[in-house]
Amino acid sequence: MTALRTTDPQRAAQILREGGLVAFGTETVYGLGANALDPLAVAKIFAAKGRPTFDPLIVHLADISMLDQVVSNVPEPARKLIDRFWPGPLTLVLPKRLAIPDLVTSGLTTVGVRIPDPPLARELIRLAGVPVAAPSANPFGRISPTTADHVAASLGEKIDAILDCGPCRVGLESTIVSFPDAGSPTVLRVGGTTLEEIAETIGPVKCLTSHAHESSLPMAAPGSLARHYAPGKRLRLFDRLSECPQGPEVGVLAFDLPVDREMYGAVEVLSPTGSLTEAAAKFFGSLRRLDASPVRELYAQRFPDHGLGRALNDRLVRAAAGSH
Ligand code: TXA
Ligand code: MG
Repeated sequence: MTALRTTDPQRAAQILREGGLVAFGTETVYGLGANALDPLAVAKIFAAKGRPTFDPLIVHLADISMLDQVVSNVPEPARKLIDRFWPGPLTLVLPKRLAIPDLVTSGLTTVGVRIPDPPLARELIRLAGVPVAAPSANPFGRISPTTADHVAASLGEKIDAILDCGPCRVGLESTIVSFPDAGSPTVLRVGGTTLEEIAETIGPVKCLTSHAHESSLPMAAPGSLARHYAPGKRLRLFDRLSECPQGPEVGVLAFDLPVDREMYGAVEVLSPTGSLTEAAAKFFGSLRRLDASPVRELYAQRFPDHGLGRALNDRLVRAAAGSH
């Protein structure tokens, strides 16, 4: 089967209601959606992605009126974050209702939940009439999709439909915040909402790095593996261009550095003006183009470690760890 490509949310919602898989665009990355209340539909997500079932899914809502169906309690700091950032690139991990199947949460008593920003995505969920479980719409561990074409190229034969919502505005996954009973709010994944913005709203937060996930808290955000977002080619990181070898077999992913295109096999400069917002929006697409180009190895410039740069560096480090 080849996925139906459509811009009609009614058609796509019908497929969700019938237990099918629909990829749709959010402001962060494309998600691979299924009815979150239907375990059989949710199981198809894991099969299509080749995703291990210990990695829980984020549940997407059309609007705040759906929150009660999904979570049983919203602590005060979560409430403040909701008021400021929803709809938007922020996922909150909250105590789940029984109606949410264990498969969605990998048996955890909490569920990750967010309201995506694009009106078409919210219209899809509203028309489906159910919360929609959706991981990023890429094969497990690979580069996240930010256009409908990216989804079609990697999952087009395994899913029922793709709702084309245009290119993703933010381009990086949502930031994930949990609220452990005894502890302070904790960031499990840095993403499209910056730590600075979160701290402005609820004060300083703990942030688990990839290493913390792996060593001390393996179940905190089970999907945050050190290896993720992997291109098919070897990827190395640099701060100065002089650290990269030159030649036709080398591909360069630069943040803002001017790069002499003659010296390399392929070059992508994300933002000559040094805008992290622009760089984030282009990041996964540029990484894909380099991966598809005829070069043998990739070199990527590290980003300044603040704002969206922190989330970009997180993706880079994992992509490098996952490359051969
Ligand atoms: O921006 C995004 O968040 C995108 C779009 C489609 O919404 N979704 C996304 O999903 O990035 P995914 O499955 O690729 O990443 C979800 C992450 C995983 O690392 C998972 O472990 C974590 O969220 N997660 C989900 N539920 C959780 C829970 N109850 N506790 C801790 N971590 C959770
Ligand atoms: Mg993902």
